[in-house]
Amino acid sequence: MGLPAEFVTAQMSNEKDLDLTPAVPASPPERSQKWAWVPIRSLGARQRSRIAAHLLALNETDRYLRFGYPATDAQLNKYVDLLDFDRDEIFGIFNRRLELIAMAHLAYAASNATQDKPAMAEFGVSVLSKARGRGYGARMFDHATLHARNRNVETMFIHALSENVAMLRIARQAGALVERDGSESEAWLKLPPDTIATQIEAAVEEQAAELDYQFKVQAHRVHELFDVMADLKSHLTGKAPAERP
Ligand SMILES: CC(C)(COP(=O)(O)OP(=O)(O)OC[C@H]1O[C@@H](n2cnc3c(N)ncnc32)[C@H](O)[C@@H]1OP(=O)(O)O)[C@@H](O)C(=O)NCCC(=O)NCCS
Repeated sequence: MGLPAEFVTAQMSNEKDLDLTPAVPASPPERSQKWAWVPIRSLGARQRSRIAAHLLALNETDRYLRFGYPATDAQLNKYVDLLDFDRDEIFGIFNRRLELIAMAHLAYAASNATQDKPAMAEFGVSVLSKARGRGYGARMFDHATLHARNRNVETMFIHALSENVAMLRIARQAGALVERDGSESEAWLKLPPDTIATQIEAAVEEQAAELDYQFKVQAHRVHELFDVMADLKSHLTGKAPAERP
């Protein structure tokens, strides 16, 4: 949900009280292979406006589930303004119209022991309602897990409302230990260390997602050009332009 540093730090100090042993997978459990590859792109500061548009499109219930309170437009804009793209990682899935249909925030917290090494990361995600149930939420979680491992993160943390069946299902299926405390739940996932394979996988995914995005950008430009030509033709002939599918 939300990602205030004090909160993350407070959770880290509680971490020693948790028995995480059952949640430690020898290697991360493989999710079902039924899904096709989904391009997940790392987002930078230039994408702030698209991130804002994505969050502002969430309804009140979704904002409540995502942040733990029904964030107003102003609060969402402030959250986007404060995103630290150097410290954290933000991931996105774009549709062919370059709309950000899913967005995840992986917030890194410096370890108490070694201030320069992130030992824990908090995961938050949202998928636009029209794109739900396609596995994007779970894909984002797996993608974030891969990146967290590659940054030597030992524990992934998710703070979710207990009513958030989908989010808690994603966490449980990944092997996380879920602790319910009334209306709120915390999920902790112990991560195995990175390997050459995880480093290569992340790099290949990054390149492929970048290619896919550039392809969508070009296709979008061609569509825009067609729209301009259709408008021009309609202006000259007096006929309404045909709808683009
Ligand atoms: C939580 C959220 C990200 C899930 O996204 P999604 O793309 O629909 O999730 P997935 O398609 O990957 O589904 C994950 C699992 O949850 C299940 N699921 C999805 N929606 C569900 C629902 N409403 N009720 C019960 N189970 C649900 C899916 O069946 C799937 O389980 P399976 O792998 O056994 O089939 C999305 O609902 C959302 O954006 N909610 C609002 C914001 C939010 O709650 N964020 C999380 C807090 S950090």
